[in-house]
Amino acid sequence: MEKISIIDAKNYVNEKVKIGVWLTNKRSSGKIAFLQLRDGSAFFQGVVVKSNVSEETFKLAKEVKQEASLYVVGTIHEDSRSHFGYEIEIEEIEIVGESENYPITPKEHGTDFLMDHRHLWLRSKRQYAIMQIRNEMIRATYEFFNKEGFIKFDAPILTGSAPEGTTELFHTEYFDKDAYLSQSGQLYEEAGAMAYGKVFSFGPTFRAEKSKTRRHLIEFWMIEPEMAFMHQEESLEIQERYIAFLVQGVLDNCDYALTILERDKDVLKKYTKLPFPRISYDEAIKILQDSKEFPNITWGEDFGSPEETYLANQFEQPVFVLNYPKAIKPFYMKPHPTRDDVVICADLLAPEGYGEIIGGSERAVDPEYLEKQIQKAGLDSKEYQWYLDLRRYGSVPHAGFGLGLERAVTWITGESHIREAIPFPRLLNRIYP
Ligand code: 4AD
Ligand code: MG
Repeated sequence: MEKISIIDAKNYVNEKVKIGVWLTNKRSSGKIAFLQLRDGSAFFQGVVVKSNVSEETFKLAKEVKQEASLYVVGTIHEDSRSHFGYEIEIEEIEIVGESENYPITPKEHGTDFLMDHRHLWLRSKRQYAIMQIRNEMIRATYEFFNKEGFIKFDAPILTGSAPEGTTELFHTEYFDKDAYLSQSGQLYEEAGAMAYGKVFSFGPTFRAEKSKTRRHLIEFWMIEPEMAFMHQEESLEIQERYIAFLVQGVLDNCDYALTILERDKDVLKKYTKLPFPRISYDEAIKILQDSKEFPNITWGEDFGSPEETYLANQFEQPVFVLNYPKAIKPFYMKPHPTRDDVVICADLLAPEGYGEIIGGSERAVDPEYLEKQIQKAGLDSKEYQWYLDLRRYGSVPHAGFGLGLERAVTWITGESHIREAIPFPRLLNRIYP
């Protein structure tokens, strides 16, 4: 008899198998017990019929507690009434680990309670589905960039640089020096692009943001591709193909998870159609000024969540907003060739109110311009000499971008808060568990 995972049940119909499971819920009468089971790979039902099993087994089935771990032995049957499509008719039960008074009961709990029990909450069905989709997006990311000729080039986490400004830095000590937790791997990816052409990093990044919103994490994972001999327009094409590839991967490989989440697949399919619309920041300001909600916005202001949502709602697909004012963007962006006030950059705004999922730009190449920008940003140019070297020795046009994994997972899963998109969210005032 084979020991299998629930997800493989379809290959064992009418066969006897053994599965290691946890009990999520149960219901029983005098003659039959229905055990809701999970093993991490999927969820399904075990049926224990009193007349077909030993007295001992039926007693175990009636008494087993929520989240006890067990081995069950039984025969797989099709079950057309469930999402999953299969169930197991149990013949034997062996308790592996007892459980008593599991804190997360099938009734409703508040957010703080669930976040305090995140280590257990992760076992529930919605969280399972979200983590499956997150995993698929990670898998598809590696496939996409490898297929496109990129190599993964890891950026350090402990750094002396602050690409995205000094206000949101996590400070730490590096022996007798100051250091920061990485806000972005970008500057290092630029060195990678000059060495290996097309590179990407994928790692944790840190922002000491005091904002408590549905879109902000203190620690989040970012995918940052960087490409040599490439201008912004080509970078936008890679970005939209990458997003469409992620969505297609989830549609192809996460049907069960999408069903659990009740995510509309026809809506997701629209996000695989290319190209995505592009508007300029100037046009975005005009759209907002012409609206009922934001008539007073003026050129030069950054967009908050409500503005991003309004703009995204004007389109069916994600929309690129190009060329923001220089004053509200980081020091490294390429200045516009004919305008002094904007830079060559784009944010990609997700539909359905999820806001910015990608930020990217073409990079400035003039070392003197950059040095001035670094000083203007209040940074110590000594710490950036290595970065300026990239412009001194065979500088080329180059561009790149950063996708926030959790922002993208939140959007694709249709969750309402980013805290669900990462196993252990780091939020303002939360570092437990
Ligand atoms: O727009 P950001 O700050 O851009 C950069 O860091 C660039 N260096 C990227 C690059 O060009 N290589 O961040 C990029 C993305 C955002 O679009 C958003 O998806 C995500 O990272 N992000 C966050 N996600 C969760 N919580 C936060 N606090 C985030 N801040 C940014
Ligand atoms: Mg940004």
